[in-house]
Amino acid sequence: MTQRIAVIGSNNMDLVTYVDRVPAAGETIEAPSFEIGFGGKGANQAVAASRLGSAVLMLSKVGEDGFGDQQLRNFEANGIDTSHVGRVPDVSSGVAPIFVEPSGENRIVIVKGANAHLGPEDVDAAASDLKSCGLILLQLETRLDTVYRAIEFGRRNDVPTLLNPAPAADLDLARIRDVAFLVPNETELALLTGMPTDGLEACEAAAQRLIAEGVGTVIVTMGARGALLVERERTAAIKPFPVDPVDTTGAGDAFIGSFAHFYLATREVEPSLNLAARYAAQSTLKRGTQKSYPTAEEFAAF
Ligand code: RIB
Ligand code: NA
Repeated sequence: MTQRIAVIGSNNMDLVTYVDRVPAAGETIEAPSFEIGFGGKGANQAVAASRLGSAVLMLSKVGEDGFGDQQLRNFEANGIDTSHVGRVPDVSSGVAPIFVEPSGENRIVIVKGANAHLGPEDVDAAASDLKSCGLILLQLETRLDTVYRAIEFGRRNDVPTLLNPAPAADLDLARIRDVAFLVPNETELALLTGMPTDGLEACEAAAQRLIAEGVGTVIVTMGARGALLVERERTAAIKPFPVDPVDTTGAGDAFIGSFAHFYLATREVEPSLNLAARYAAQSTLKRGTQKSYPTAEEFAAF
């Protein structure tokens, strides 16, 4: 049987305003529409994998507020194991005010709220469940010490980890080099390595620097330009799936969550990335974050 995927990460309520343009400082503008949806990089990746049919275990925190109730129900509605989703008193659930322009491009502010309370002790508390997982997905919307603990746990227990170092933050390379997969965008890759990342060759050189440090595989995401797969012995360009996007919010998470699903099912990296690129592209054709993520049936029909 295919092993479960664990996601140790955030959940946010995405407060999405569709604007004609972004306001300048001091300016007030009217926007045509607004939608609330489930988001947060951790939860998004979990939902993408689960909609495709993976069994997913979530480690996350919500507040004792209405958004927290809704988040718990949403995890359950998506078939995700919430036995390690905790509630934190006196703090809001995570929220993300988002502005989407007509081009489909977005600007995001995040308020961590309860997500900042997911600590290393939560990784320890879930150890027996995490040990049997096939892959642990990590992002940077919770606490860095939690991410480091999870990577350390993975190394000690032979559970491969995938780190999506987003949103960009200063990381201690020595504490992330044991990941099996590192999935940065070009900005995050530049920050991690201090090297330029403009152009494929520059990205490849920067990725090789991380591989020399010990990282297994680096997957550089480049939005509408696809992705770059860099392994010790080879590099492959992952072609984008051409679409005319409506809303790209969460497309990167759709890519990672679906990659985790396809990879665990097949153990083949490059074909799984090609499928993930298609899955992410399909998600940009609908508004919203998780609500735009296709099910296995919808994906098969695309
Ligand atoms: O990656 C997209 C996500 O980033 C959104 O769902 C929002 O919650 C922010 O965390
Ligand atoms: Na979308």
